[in-house]
Amino acid sequence: MFQLGAVPVLCETRPDGNIDPGRVAELITPRTRAIMVTHLWGKPAEMTDLTTLARDRDLDLLEDGSHAHGASHGGQKVGTFGLASAFSLNGPKPLSGGEGGFVLTDDDDTYYRVLTFAHYNKRARNEIPEGHPLAQYAVTGAGLKLRIHPLAAALAHDQLSRLDAYLAGREEIAAYLIRELGQIPGLEVSPMPEGVKSSWYALTATYRPDQLCGLPLDRFHAALVAEGATEFDRPGSTCPLNQLPLYQHPSPLFPGYPNARSRYREGDFPVAEKAHAHTIKLPVWHREQDLKLAEQYVSAARKVSEHHKELL
Ligand SMILES: Cc1ncc(COP(=O)(O)O)c(C=O)c1O
Repeated sequence: MFQLGAVPVLCETRPDGNIDPGRVAELITPRTRAIMVTHLWGKPAEMTDLTTLARDRDLDLLEDGSHAHGASHGGQKVGTFGLASAFSLNGPKPLSGGEGGFVLTDDDDTYYRVLTFAHYNKRARNEIPEGHPLAQYAVTGAGLKLRIHPLAAALAHDQLSRLDAYLAGREEIAAYLIRELGQIPGLEVSPMPEGVKSSWYALTATYRPDQLCGLPLDRFHAALVAEGATEFDRPGSTCPLNQLPLYQHPSPLFPGYPNARSRYREGDFPVAEKAHAHTIKLPVWHREQDLKLAEQYVSAARKVSEHHKELL
């Protein structure tokens, strides 16, 4: 958005870190063009309210499904609710090609525009119909080359046939983790609401220091790691965007940016910030034999919780 000269307007989240649909309407102005939604940690956002709002206010709905390949809301796959969606395929994503990503859209004009950002020359020449206003730019595109490496695309394509099996395996391990971790003092874990299927990019728990005599999360987490449960993690760069310098003062990176003045500060989004500060997360493994590993993680969490007084 910064590269395009568009102005991102941030919105408060719900405690699960997904956009709060009830807070979107107050941010819409005559200059608003789209509502962008990320499905954080693979849990679909509240799409019924957001699609209605986008339709009623004549705004495009765009999804970032980078955590949520194969997740669904009311039986509908994420990435298919709005005009277009983007999915990262990097590193540990639910569907991975190592690097790269893809765009989904069923809108021809949007598709041709995507080609001008990624596949200038051959593919744009072959696929943008003659006579379309963007066809004249096929050779250069927009001067960018945001295309995926073919090897990454081949890897991801191969993984795609296994995605459903991965997701089914994760669903089982997630159910076990929710049931067991949820009984451990200090951790609060919410089940998925009816009709919402996560991709389980991560399972998040809310840390409750009040249940452990005020033990700080840092200490709790360090003890888990010392138990060998090294994949318990606290979200770092995946944080409320108002905490990032890019959103606080973009002008050194983007001289001439339309809204160069400081826009956001720490503290602007208390719900999102509180959730981030109290989140501890785990990857959700998918193989049958991984249940053993999940059991060991639960034992580690139980042990640390039981011994919390020694950590104070
Ligand atoms: C929600 C979300 N969107 C977008 C991205 C960016 O993806 P990429 O690094 O493939 O551009 C990430 C990065 O991991 C992400 O977590």
